[in-house]
Amino acid sequence: MKKQRSFVFKCGACGHEEPKWLGRCPECGEWNTLEETAVTGRGKAGPQGKAGNSAIPQSFPLSSVDPLEGSRISSGVSELDRVLGGGIMKKSAILLGGEPGIGKSTLLLQAAAAAHVKGRILYVSGEESAGQVRMRADRLGIAKDASSRIEIFCSGNLESILTILEASKPALVMIDSAQTLFSSETGLLPGTVNQMKYCVWELISYVKERDCALFFTAHVTKDGVISGPKSLEHMVDTVLYFENAVPASGNEDCRFLRATKNRFGSVDEIGIFTMGEKGLSLVEDPSLLFLVRRDGELPPGVATAAVLEGSRPLLVEIQALTVPAKGSISRVFSDRIDSARVSRVAASIEKHLGMRLSDQDIYINVAGGIRIAETGADLALACAIYSARTNMPLPAKTAMAGELSLAGEIKSLRRLNSRIKAAANLGFTSFLFPAPGNSSDLELPVQDTGAAAYTPVKNIKDAIKSIFS
Ligand code: TYD
Ligand code: MG
Repeated sequence: MKKQRSFVFKCGACGHEEPKWLGRCPECGEWNTLEETAVTGRGKAGPQGKAGNSAIPQSFPLSSVDPLEGSRISSGVSELDRVLGGGIMKKSAILLGGEPGIGKSTLLLQAAAAAHVKGRILYVSGEESAGQVRMRADRLGIAKDASSRIEIFCSGNLESILTILEASKPALVMIDSAQTLFSSETGLLPGTVNQMKYCVWELISYVKERDCALFFTAHVTKDGVISGPKSLEHMVDTVLYFENAVPASGNEDCRFLRATKNRFGSVDEIGIFTMGEKGLSLVEDPSLLFLVRRDGELPPGVATAAVLEGSRPLLVEIQALTVPAKGSISRVFSDRIDSARVSRVAASIEKHLGMRLSDQDIYINVAGGIRIAETGADLALACAIYSARTNMPLPAKTAMAGELSLAGEIKSLRRLNSRIKAAANLGFTSFLFPAPGNSSDLELPVQDTGAAAYTPVKNIKDAIKSIFS
């Protein structure tokens, strides 16, 4: 089925279309923003593409549509499944972004080998030769029966890929990478963003109509910007980012996988991997990664928070340092916790504990390079700042969770029990949490061990008193 193609010139700023090239967009007035864009005759397709090209466009009752529920497949890599929201959704397209060398190709090949799919798997490599991919498969220890169901095709030519897709009808397609895709039919310059968008759109249209799921890899530049592929984000169902993390435990091969967009799940989950000799492996107890192993006393300025990353409780070490402000105004330096939140917590300490911080520069770090957005870290953040300013260390083996209100109260949190359990499992013997009344339906899990001390706290004053007295 040959599609009719024509070209328009589309403004990159406002999306206005012109039949011929103009130096200035007549709609928004921007200069040099009109780019040649291919248009296909897709608009004529019937509902869900079932009717032929000649069919009159028709809408249909929502109730007549089969929900996508239940059509997930496991990638065989549990951390990947978790970030996707419970597995790979059929008919979906997933973009996997990350810096070169972070492990995108490795992850896709491991998922291709382990995926619980009945049909074939097509691995399209536009960057590496078949021999290189085979070498990686051997390094990963992929067994022969797993590698024999992976079909490999080494080209970025869209038309060839579509021909192969039609012939082999795979259940899973891996495209490595989106940047190497090109189409010989568009008449567009190879390597341009429009070329890539066109190819990605064609491939997404293919999987939307079949029992197939599609992964693309895309390189991002060092400063974290997806160059070009940023423009693919609105087309795909899920956008995953693979990023490096340097955990407190000193393991430099640690990787985080996060979703920044997910039409079929939450974007709160993170997947944690380490890259080893035999590829990516799961981290059994991720909490250990973010804690610094110390014997004896803690240094001042260090507090441990039990936070939730997605559905998983993590124990993280928050480090604070306060020094007299170098300028006339004090500043907050914090790239792992939002600086505005640090300022709010500092203001709360100043107001409710009468401790002067407005003449101090405050530096905040989270061991392990993890970014904390959850407000449950407030209490530990406040304790770390207080400890740094007074030079009094917190007692060892103490963890805490609680959100700090502007009025100085410690507010309740969701899933307090699982946080406490995670802390107890890691050997924390003392836990501060929002006082009942502030927190609902709390049952203390390991209270009867005798060794553990659970301290409900109503406000920041109570908390500081119970820790430092
Ligand atoms: P790769 O998956 O090629 O990264 P990307 O596709 O994101 O560019 O991974 C490349 C790095 O991972 C490379 O530096 C080698 C390393 N690596 C391992 O340490 N162990 C392994 O088993 C594999 C396959 C790669
Ligand atoms: Mg690669």
